[in-house]
Amino acid sequence: MSGTNQRIDGKRLWDSLMAMAEIGATPKGGVKRLTLSDVDRQGRDRFKGWCEALGLTVRVDAIGNMFARREGRDPKRLPVLMGSHLDSQPTGGKFDGALGVIAGLEVMRTLHDLNITTEAPIELVNWTDEEGSRFGHSLMGSGTWAGIYPLEKAYGLRDVDGVSVSEALDTIGYKGAHAAKPFPADAYFELHIEQGPILEREEKRIGVVTGAQAQVWYDAVIVGQDSHAGTTPPSARKDALVAAARVVTLVDQLMRARGEDGRGTVGFLQIASPSRNVVPGEVRFSVEFRHPSDEQILGLAASFPEQAARLVAETGCRLELTELFRIPAQPFDPSCVDLVRQAARRLNLPAREIISGAGHDAVYVARSIPTAMIFTPCKDGLSHNEAESILPEEAADGCQVLFEAVVARANR
Ligand code: GLV
Ligand code: MN
Ligand code: MN
Ligand code: MN
Repeated sequence: MSGTNQRIDGKRLWDSLMAMAEIGATPKGGVKRLTLSDVDRQGRDRFKGWCEALGLTVRVDAIGNMFARREGRDPKRLPVLMGSHLDSQPTGGKFDGALGVIAGLEVMRTLHDLNITTEAPIELVNWTDEEGSRFGHSLMGSGTWAGIYPLEKAYGLRDVDGVSVSEALDTIGYKGAHAAKPFPADAYFELHIEQGPILEREEKRIGVVTGAQAQVWYDAVIVGQDSHAGTTPPSARKDALVAAARVVTLVDQLMRARGEDGRGTVGFLQIASPSRNVVPGEVRFSVEFRHPSDEQILGLAASFPEQAARLVAETGCRLELTELFRIPAQPFDPSCVDLVRQAARRLNLPAREIISGAGHDAVYVARSIPTAMIFTPCKDGLSHNEAESILPEEAADGCQVLFEAVVARANR
């Protein structure tokens, strides 16, 4: 039985969250801990030190995923995993990812303090590059671990400065000796902030996450022609930015046509040689769509490239569209989800079932082993923003639910 009188230490959890948030702290109160940067290395080193201080063994795999293991009583039992990610968006918040890792650490500390040995081992994971903002592939570490994304492909991805994943791993000293592939494990639990407004709006403390929505991501390049802004008449222009504007509007229209469940975003856009008095000849941008239904994403993936290419051609430009990433909707494991539901009920925390709008490592891990997630509210539903904020009590309640679910699974 997992004990409701076995309490995590909310203050210690908060202090460690704040200590992690010092690494890569931005003036506006957020963090910039881009994956595999030196700041990421500092975060990893601090996390590793905290784990080793508890006597946990930390191993690192070939894509830099970190696993901190606490042995169980029964050597035949497979480990129960928990975790999230320490990398952040360029203008990220303190809690996206960090909450799940540091709460996992607090679970380990509580087990240590209370001298509890679970039947199964427990492993705490920091997945590499959840965000995808530096190398263009979200969920890179968990995808490689789960065998969905080949290691060699991941190694070859490059950031805007031409640095590859392989080089970045070597530079920060986190290309580990262990193979990046699934090892036998019993289950995975991830605590994360909701990153949206539903729990706060409905005054719920816990989201019992039943699954995550489907996504498709693209890189787009529009090629027109640089020319003189003062001398090029409308009939002679090949303005790549005007073509891009049409595609941006198309993405918004396709999203809105799908009602409140639709998502469509152009979050990155760059004119290749920007200048006030040059008609833009080349523009690069990102496109992503998300929806809870696979059919909707399949439909978009089938129709959007052609619709966009047609709009661009009307401006005299050419569209090069590359699909970077596609992920189907992922339901979570009913028995793991139920452990989360039961824990929230036992702790008398107001809870509701919820589908994840964001992508999470849990989505890839769920393809290999039974998986569930726990959400906690965040202020104004704001995330991927330096102003992202949560209350210490919300973090503590989420961590307590994580503790209960993981210990119950490890002792079953
Ligand atoms: C990244 O955090 C995502 O959900 O897209
Ligand atoms: Mn995250
Ligand atoms: Mn994120
Ligand atoms: Mn995410």
